[in-house]
Amino acid sequence: MTRNRVFRQLVLALIVLLMFTAAALAALRPVALRCEYRVNPLGLDEPRPRLTWRVESPERGQRQMACQIQVATSEALLRKSRADLWDSGRVMSDKTVNVAYAGKPLTSREACYWRVQVWDKDGKPNWSEIAFWTMGLLASNDWRAEYISFRDTTPVHKDAQTLFLPAARQYRDEFSAARKVKRATVYATALGVYELYLNGERLGDAVFAPGWTDYHQRAYYWTYDVTPLVRKGRNAIGAWVADGWYSGYIGFGLVAHIGTERIGRYTYGKTPAIMAQLEIEYADGSRETVVTDGSWKASDAGPIQEADLLMGETYDARKEQPGWTKPGFDDSGWESAILARNNGSAAATFYEFQNGAKLGDRAEIKGHLIDLGFKRPPKLEAFPGMPVRPTQEIAPIAITSPTNGVHIFDLGQNFAGVVRLKVKGRAGTVVQMRYGEMLHPDGQLMTENLRKARATDHYILRGDSGDEVYVPRFTYHGFRYVELTGLPGKPRPDAITGIVLHSDTPLTSGFECSDPIANRLFQNVLWTQRANFVDLPTDCPQRDERLGWTGDAQVYVRTAAYNADVAAFYTKWLRELMESQRPSGTFPGYAPFPFQYRWDFGTAWCDAAVICPWEIWQAYDDTRIVERCWPRLVQFLEWRKTTSRNFLGINHGNDWGDWLNLNDPTSIEYIDTIYFAYDARLMADMARALGRGKDEADYRALFDNIKAAFKQKYVKSEGSLTKDSQTAYDLALFVDLIPTELRKAAGKILADKLRKAETSDNSGMTTGFLGTRPLLPVLSSVGENDLAVKHFQSRKYPSWGYEVEQGATTIWECWNSYTKDKGFGGAQHVQMDSSFAHYAFGAVCEWMMSTLAGIATDGPGYKRIIIRPSPPSPGSNPDREPINWVKAHYDSIHGRIVSNWRLKDGRFVLETTIPANSTATVYVPAKSAESVTESGAPLDKAKNVKFLRMEGDRVVLVVESGSYRFTAQP
Ligand code: BGC
Repeated sequence: MTRNRVFRQLVLALIVLLMFTAAALAALRPVALRCEYRVNPLGLDEPRPRLTWRVESPERGQRQMACQIQVATSEALLRKSRADLWDSGRVMSDKTVNVAYAGKPLTSREACYWRVQVWDKDGKPNWSEIAFWTMGLLASNDWRAEYISFRDTTPVHKDAQTLFLPAARQYRDEFSAARKVKRATVYATALGVYELYLNGERLGDAVFAPGWTDYHQRAYYWTYDVTPLVRKGRNAIGAWVADGWYSGYIGFGLVAHIGTERIGRYTYGKTPAIMAQLEIEYADGSRETVVTDGSWKASDAGPIQEADLLMGETYDARKEQPGWTKPGFDDSGWESAILARNNGSAAATFYEFQNGAKLGDRAEIKGHLIDLGFKRPPKLEAFPGMPVRPTQEIAPIAITSPTNGVHIFDLGQNFAGVVRLKVKGRAGTVVQMRYGEMLHPDGQLMTENLRKARATDHYILRGDSGDEVYVPRFTYHGFRYVELTGLPGKPRPDAITGIVLHSDTPLTSGFECSDPIANRLFQNVLWTQRANFVDLPTDCPQRDERLGWTGDAQVYVRTAAYNADVAAFYTKWLRELMESQRPSGTFPGYAPFPFQYRWDFGTAWCDAAVICPWEIWQAYDDTRIVERCWPRLVQFLEWRKTTSRNFLGINHGNDWGDWLNLNDPTSIEYIDTIYFAYDARLMADMARALGRGKDEADYRALFDNIKAAFKQKYVKSEGSLTKDSQTAYDLALFVDLIPTELRKAAGKILADKLRKAETSDNSGMTTGFLGTRPLLPVLSSVGENDLAVKHFQSRKYPSWGYEVEQGATTIWECWNSYTKDKGFGGAQHVQMDSSFAHYAFGAVCEWMMSTLAGIATDGPGYKRIIIRPSPPSPGSNPDREPINWVKAHYDSIHGRIVSNWRLKDGRFVLETTIPANSTATVYVPAKSAESVTESGAPLDKAKNVKFLRMEGDRVVLVVESGSYRFTAQP
């Protein structure tokens, strides 16, 4: 063969190969298999777990035409296509989200391996990789373990002046595994928080398991696969158990003099307990079970001498008991554990507020007798959420020493978590760590805003010759600065490393634009979300509060779902929220609801119960969550109907209202009417999703009635309102209570208000928690997008840019929680308590994603997508260059959606990506359809793009999946 021929043949082969791979790539690939929103989850108790996958293809217009799901009891069977649990067969369906298992009934402990085959638009099939889930303990008699405790002889602590911080307990047991192990599983729960060990290895990396529930009603158990850890012969299992939310200090109990004995601890019981069950399946088919019972040993003499979520941890390394989680450890000095119920009862008085008897009465603190003795939570369920985990480490950026012997480590970022301390020194040396979000002007740590949260950890050195390393287990703090005292020698930069903790909800968004302040703001929003998504959506991570405030949650939930995959996280919290329903039918100010503070609920807080499930359904096409909440929501709407007067809301007795508004209050009755209407509308949508036609019609009629009553009472003929605040306008417009023909006029009034209120040093915005979230979305929707963007880019007080310029690395509770000229004291309402990590004002992120970048869902789950970027007009902002490019993406449950736009030389360029199997309506700002090109070609030549209509100054197109580049003359 000549060299030429060889070369030609090689090229030919290469072309064939390329065509082959191109075809393979173009076909649809099923990837990212998840079950109940998690990757290979263990221990589910859903009888029909839901399966989700994503389909991918670089080719435009790719769709899943059909799919087949196979589920088998082993991987080997599945590989042979022997799906002994379920074979759906080929189903004509484009659904890839939340497909419910429909095979043989699943039993406790069952291992289920699954895969999915998809057929693309041309009928080409493709199998996924194999994924799995396992079932948990489905019947209550599957549990043979009992809750165990230590013998608790301490009296109920009643002194508010001193802290009662008991040691975390160690528990251990040894057992023999007789034969070769095929599978071993641990199921565990605690009243308190726990960490488990087997033969010296920690089980999992989650912290604060099993999570916060109302233990009077329910607890969660967790499942661990310990197959590789159990050995033939002697084995040991060990557990740390601390107070956690069950019996430790929580919320503002201590500062508000409420809860058990008015000290805010022992909320659910006096003595923590643990229940664990290890099930071993041997290779020969026989089984063995090791359970927590009276044969276990317990100790309080270990190193963790104090362990409290709010107060901190004290770790005396001299008391470590090496090898206690390994077999052969001498535990003869340990006491015997006891069955938790054998601690008997412990009488105490529980104090909390009670609502006044009638409207207008004040809520007052009342006490009633309770028994703090062990009570088994009536329900035990598999943990459905996302574990709290360490997700990132942060090195300090500076170390200062404001006074002798005090060292402050600046981690450069406010966050929630703990630190890793590395020290070397003499045995018995005490290193104290205090945490703060800010520094005083003299460089000292600012801790005033922590209120009664001591937020202090101690480490007492063992005295090793090398470095000693300590990471607290049962506490967390909200902080940027760590103050160290007692440090032997000079502080080394690696003495402190920040460890970021939060519910490990995968981050799903990206945002960047031409204004650097907005980019920092976006990061601040993400950090604040991470700092507050710690098992539940909390208001703040630092002070003695950290409660699941419902009002904050409802204004923020849409932003939350843009920024992270919060489906599992909300699945968990919505159970707590539903369970917190008040006897009247309303929902409280925070969930879980450990104790009542002042009035038990508030307008716009209670409505989280309707708004959050609606948002989760919309983001993840999750009708099951709606179905599960539904009966409670119906009761809630009944309560709303009975308390309303002629379809108008009332003041129920609580004055949060538009919380933290700036001297521009909105009457509660007015806000109540709006939320009543909003609830009715969302209920109608959800009724429809559930196929409840009659309910849908009823709730629509209810909405119409409220809207009519609202119009009559509050709307004047020219579009103005009888309530004059900015919030009054933006809420009414947001919830669609202004008649269509007056929308524009009402919007103009709102915009004029904002414009008029602006001065040389004030942005003019007066909205609080409720009014801020809809402000920019509403302005953009009524033709005032330039004003919305201008305001978004403002650096004047109050604004997002202002906060960033004051040095914020998170979103603050108040715009002026700190100011460079006034320090800490200037904040509205809350002064020195003010939090530096409150996410409510971060809800602006919703507008950044849905409006400015223009990524939104059209119906549930981003199956149909709206791409509608909203660039401001060039030159529309006298103070600075209006944003002229945005790059954003959102990893929806159907895949990544991209919207990148740029205004340049009078042209508008939009690059967008729509995930396979989805379609989008794309709104391109353009004078005419003729001015638009896609990848250089005129619209009528563009593939997979269809011109729909002109709508104002936009060309409206329908596009199929794939990547596109539109240019236009706006
Ligand atoms: C919390 C809030 C909450 C508010 C209710 C505050 O203490 O931190 O975020 O919504 O109380 O008024």
